[in-house]
Amino acid sequence: LPMKRAIEIAPVYEAKELAEVLAELPQDSCIFLVDEVFRSRWNLQKALYCKAGESLKQVTTFAELMPKIIELSAGIGKKDLNIVAIGGGSIGDFAGFVASTLKRGVRLIQIPTTWLAAVDSAHGGKTALNCGAYKNQIGSFHQAEKIYLVKDLLAEQPQNLLEDAYAEILKMAFLKEPQILEQVDDIWSILPQAIQAKYNYVLRDPFEDSGLRTELNLGHTYAHVLELEHQLSHGKAVGQGLHFAIAWSAAKGYLKNESAPQLQTILNDNYHPWMGLKIPAQNFLANLLQDKKMQKDKQLRFVFLEDLGKARVENVAAEEMLEFAKEWQCLC
Ligand SMILES: NC(=O)c1ccc[n+]([C@@H]2O[C@H](COP(=O)([O-])OP(=O)(O)OC[C@H]3O[C@@H](n4cnc5c(N)ncnc54)[C@H](O)[C@@H]3O)[C@@H](O)[C@H]2O)c1
Repeated sequence: LPMKRAIEIAPVYEAKELAEVLAELPQDSCIFLVDEVFRSRWNLQKALYCKAGESLKQVTTFAELMPKIIELSAGIGKKDLNIVAIGGGSIGDFAGFVASTLKRGVRLIQIPTTWLAAVDSAHGGKTALNCGAYKNQIGSFHQAEKIYLVKDLLAEQPQNLLEDAYAEILKMAFLKEPQILEQVDDIWSILPQAIQAKYNYVLRDPFEDSGLRTELNLGHTYAHVLELEHQLSHGKAVGQGLHFAIAWSAAKGYLKNESAPQLQTILNDNYHPWMGLKIPAQNFLANLLQDKKMQKDKQLRFVFLEDLGKARVENVAAEEMLEFAKEWQCLC
C-alpha cells in the first residue's frame, strides 16, 4: 500500500542579514545547533556548539547529544519549539534529523554557512545520520520551515569549501540549468537558479517515490564509493563522480560524441580535474552494495547523461559498474 504522507512543500528560502534573522526568531523557543567555528560569535540563549563533519552525523553522537538537546528544550511547548541549524551540510543533516525525531517532530530552520549547504543540502528536506562506516543510512524527510541565506556568513568560507559547492552546482547545470554555466564565477548570483533547479525535482517528487528525484544523484554513486574509501569531502567526491558518470555515459554511447569533450572541458575549467584517487578492487563492490540506490539482484539506479540538460536513469548491475571502473583505471 502506498504510504500516506502530507505534502506541503514550497521553496522557503530568503536572503537576509543575520542580525535581522536573529532578531526575528523567538530566542526563548529556539534551540540553536551551531558549528563550533562560530562559538561565542553571537549571543544565543539556548545553543549547542558542535564539531562539524561526518562524526557529528554518527548515530552514536546523536545518542550522546540528544540528552543535552532535550535539557535545552525543557519548558518549551512542542508547538513552539524550533531547531535552528547554523552550519554546513553536516550540521544541517544532523539538526534536520533531531528536528524530525524530537517529540515526534518539531520545526526546523536552516541557516547554511557553506555554499554547499546554501545551494543544496539545506533544501529538499533530507536528513541523515551515518552508521559506522556507512553514510546516510538513517534518515527522514523533514522540510525546513525556513532557510535563510546570509551572504556575509557564506562569503567567509575558504576557497576549498567553494570548490565543494561547485560540484553540486555543475551537477545542476548538467541536469537542467545549462545557463548557470554562463556566470558560474559569481556564486551568489547563481544561487537562486541552482536552488530553483533542485526544487523543480523536489516539488515533483518530495519523498523520492516516483524516481524523478533520482536524477539528482548524478555523480553520487561513484562519489559514495570514494567517500567510504578516502577521507574526501562530499563536494570533492561528487566532482570526481561527475567525471566518472560522463566517462561511462560516453563509453556506453549515450552521450553524443560532441557532448563528451564539451562536458569534460566544462568540468575541468570550473572544477579541479580528475584527482586519480584509486579504490581497492575488493572494496569497490562492497562499498557499492551499501548504496541506498541499490535495487534487488544487485542492480543499481545509475544516472547517465545523454546531453547537456538531459539525464538518463538506468538500472545497471553492480558488477557492470565494477567492470567500467577497471577500464577507467580507478581501481588498485
Ligand atoms: N541533505 C542533503 O540533501 C544533502 C545534500 C548534499 C550533501 N549533504 C551532506 O552535507 C555534508 C557536507 O556538507 P558541507 O560540505 O557543508 O560540510 P560540513 O558541514 O562538514 O562543513 C565543512 C567544514 O567547513 C567548516 N565551515 C562551515 N561553515 C564555515 C564558514 N562559513 N567559514 C569557515 N568554515 C566553515 C566546518 O566547520 C567544517 O570544517 C555531508 O555530510 C553530506 O552528506 C546533504
